[in-house]
Amino acid sequence: MKATFHGHACFLLEGGGKRVVIDPFLTGNPAAVIGPEGLPKLDAVLLSHGHGDHLGDAVALAKRDRATIVATYELAQFCGDQGAPVHAMHIGGAHQFPFGRVKLVPAFHGGRVDGDATGKYTTNPCGVVVTLGSKTAYHTGDTALTLEMQLLAGRVELMLVPIGDNYTMGVEDAARAVEFVKPKVVIPMHYNTWDVIRADPQAFKREVGGRAEVVILEPGQSHTLA
Ligand code: NI
Ligand code: MN
Repeated sequence: MKATFHGHACFLLEGGGKRVVIDPFLTGNPAAVIGPEGLPKLDAVLLSHGHGDHLGDAVALAKRDRATIVATYELAQFCGDQGAPVHAMHIGGAHQFPFGRVKLVPAFHGGRVDGDATGKYTTNPCGVVVTLGSKTAYHTGDTALTLEMQLLAGRVELMLVPIGDNYTMGVEDAARAVEFVKPKVVIPMHYNTWDVIRADPQAFKREVGGRAEVVILEPGQSHTLA
């Protein structure tokens, strides 16, 4: 599996001949080095929650590529009502898609869907566990440190974890999350996009120590799992 970081919480994952993007916030993302047009053709768009810095360009990309948006029920409905192909799931459920397997897991965070003037689509944020080919990645979404993460212990090779604090875990809690999940490789995200989420990824690397390989990516850079 190859993971390319596109700034903030956006990752392109490629494996088993398939390609998915998670939380494609590119338009207006101060940390992104490409726009949505810079993404290759996608098989699916996976969403952790409806905040603008995650929902981002999801609907436009899904329509462009006829790529399915996979999200919690209410958020999928919001995207579907805008004409995007969607597949609704909910926390705790898994589904085998043509591109791979997705399971949604708990995240503790806010449930507003940006762009929903009616308030009718308010949903539960989630983490996304995705298997492409033989490798499994866990994008925690925006979340506090939660004991539920322990349920994934040893089941994921790659963990994508926020370290920016304020809205999500900071460095210390993110390192504890790594302790809970025991991935082989961890990539920090959701930091330095704005001043309020300034964090030092090297401090995170020190905190994690020998518990996992910490790979720090600049926007546009990739890491391929061995
Ligand atoms: Ni959020
Ligand atoms: Mn966020």
